[in-house]
Amino acid sequence: MNRVMLVTGGGDCPGLNAVIRAVVNRASQEKNWEVVGSIEAFNGILREPTEIVVLDEHAVRGIHYQGGTILQTTNKGGPFAWPVKQNDGTWITVDRSDEMIRKISYLGIDAVINIGGDGSQRISQGLFEKGLNIVGVPKTIDNDLSATDSTFGFQTAVQIATEAVDKLVTTAASHNRVQILEVMGRDAGWIALNSAVAGGAEVCLLPEFPYDINKVMDKIESRFSKGRGFINIVISEGARNINGQNVAHTSSEPGYENRVLGGVGFQLEKELKDAGCEHSIRTTVLGHLQRGGVPIAYDRVLASQFGVKAFELVLEKKFGTMVSYRHPYITHVTLKEAIMSPNLVTMDTALMKTALGLGICIGI
Ligand code: F6P
Repeated sequence: MNRVMLVTGGGDCPGLNAVIRAVVNRASQEKNWEVVGSIEAFNGILREPTEIVVLDEHAVRGIHYQGGTILQTTNKGGPFAWPVKQNDGTWITVDRSDEMIRKISYLGIDAVINIGGDGSQRISQGLFEKGLNIVGVPKTIDNDLSATDSTFGFQTAVQIATEAVDKLVTTAASHNRVQILEVMGRDAGWIALNSAVAGGAEVCLLPEFPYDINKVMDKIESRFSKGRGFINIVISEGARNINGQNVAHTSSEPGYENRVLGGVGFQLEKELKDAGCEHSIRTTVLGHLQRGGVPIAYDRVLASQFGVKAFELVLEKKFGTMVSYRHPYITHVTLKEAIMSPNLVTMDTALMKTALGLGICIGI
């Protein structure tokens, strides 16, 4: 019996369950293949007792439209940085990767499919370099991986953010207000840019382009002076002004390496008031609503394609690779390529040109 282990790591994302189901359904068409899943990313395999579950067709029936992941996930720790509490209450991290690879072999697991974003695929590459048979599947609502045209979950997040802009437009118009919507996007402003264009926002502020508050003020005043008494601003959580840093804090959760973002929308509101904006301003932070709930059809389809392809890469023994969508093909790239450079919004981006053509102010 051959065995492949599925892992979902990093932040959750609509479509993870569709990938899991696709791997299992594809594997069930081969003789002598069993699929297992590690609970909570690699933690399931690292824990004693081990927490892995068998995933058969029955276990994955009908999960393609469910949000979250039936395997659970975490964006803390991992095999290279396992958090350990010291006697004095402080935490250190230890490298348990060798021990984990030995355990995977001892359990008769022939290959691993790691579904995750850039952090998870860095772990995949590290494990591959140590000899593990591993294939990656790209996952991120931020769409910040350059080795694939798109990642599942992103379009669902854009849909949710656009619905929020639509709702805020009607309330902004009713009250003659400046409405600020803060959306996710740590380093890449794709969710903000797409939802600003789709929702008809007038200002869109992205992590890639530090904004000048005076430019935003000019846009607001020119619009109000033309008698259009409201304005909608979409801002990525990772945006910052030309003089400042991200609005972020260090997490107290052991093993959590990222800075926790959130609150730049409120900072922008204060900056506008300090700059003399006399209009009524309200700020909404959309937060994790963008990651929850059912994936839209596009993401279910992409996730299913990724899952089938991932298992086929395992069958073909194409380890050290990540599934990739390059229109119109579902193909693969090396993990090294996958983690080489992020997918960021640039001035050359077609959608950026559209946004500027529509008159959207990006604060520069
Ligand atoms: O990377 C995806 C993402 O949703 C970012 O946009 C966000 O900053 C981060 O994850 C938040 O993760 P969590 O709150 O789960 O730690």
